[in-house]
Amino acid sequence: MTKATTNTPRTAMFRKIAALLVAGLISVGVAHASEGGLEPANIRLDDVASMQRGARLFFNYCAGCHSLRFMRYSRIAEDLQLDPKDVERNFMFGGGKIGDPVIGHMPPDDGTRWFGKAPPDLSLEARSKGSDWIYNYLKSFYLDPSRPLGWNNTVFPNASMPNVLWELQGMQSAVTKPAAEGQDAVIERLELRTPGRQDAEEFDRTARDIATFLQYVGEPAALQRESMGVWVLLYLALFTLLAYFLKHEFWKDVH
Ligand code: HEC
Repeated sequence: MTKATTNTPRTAMFRKIAALLVAGLISVGVAHASEGGLEPANIRLDDVASMQRGARLFFNYCAGCHSLRFMRYSRIAEDLQLDPKDVERNFMFGGGKIGDPVIGHMPPDDGTRWFGKAPPDLSLEARSKGSDWIYNYLKSFYLDPSRPLGWNNTVFPNASMPNVLWELQGMQSAVTKPAAEGQDAVIERLELRTPGRQDAEEFDRTARDIATFLQYVGEPAALQRESMGVWVLLYLALFTLLAYFLKHEFWKDVH
């Protein structure tokens, strides 16, 4: 009996469709995971603690060179639930007012002279490159004596930025595999040569926190949108309930 039912043409068709669906889902997943060969940062815009840590890291390690000209200190304080006094004390090294935009103190000419390239504004970096890219970039510096500052990067080859987080991450060097005749050696992976203050897991969190902060900076309105979504859903649920009771009320008289 059961044998007959499992072998009907219809079950066979369903099986085929299911197999196709699974295959499709797997290929979508694979395509997504290997997009540009980047490791996903798994950032979350509802993780305020991560954004607060990211902001602190940014102002300690990045703001000397990079500005966020579309962002004001006061807005950061408000959105990230930080005390404006703390923001003034810990983030605004060059003085100024809490309502000022986050502009670095390095004149572009000096940047060009020192690094061969002026450090770009990072307000829209997460929008143009994506937070996964930033996360991977921060993890991919390695020692390279052939570069002017002694650093290179596998995600952004020949970047003129040094590894400013080396004290936390430690120093990596490239493990190459021999290339074909007349070609440059290919980098196989990066290896930690000198440990830093953080282990690999802690440094992943550091890179993720900075990527999360820059994702927020790229689109501050996304924070409000996320919290608004909950209210919209609650409103819809309430409205449905109300409509249901109203319907009951109306039909009571009809019956
Ligand atoms: C000592 C100066 C300096 C510091 C500090 C610094 N950077 Fe940079 N950064 C640069 C320079 C110079 C470039 C341009 C690199 C190039 O185009 O070759 C750059 C480029 C970048 C880029 C790539 C921009 C692009 O072209 O898309 C990102 C992202 C970035 N920096 C993030 C950071 C973060 C995050 C920090 C803090 C952890 C930081 N930087 C600290 C100098 C600096």
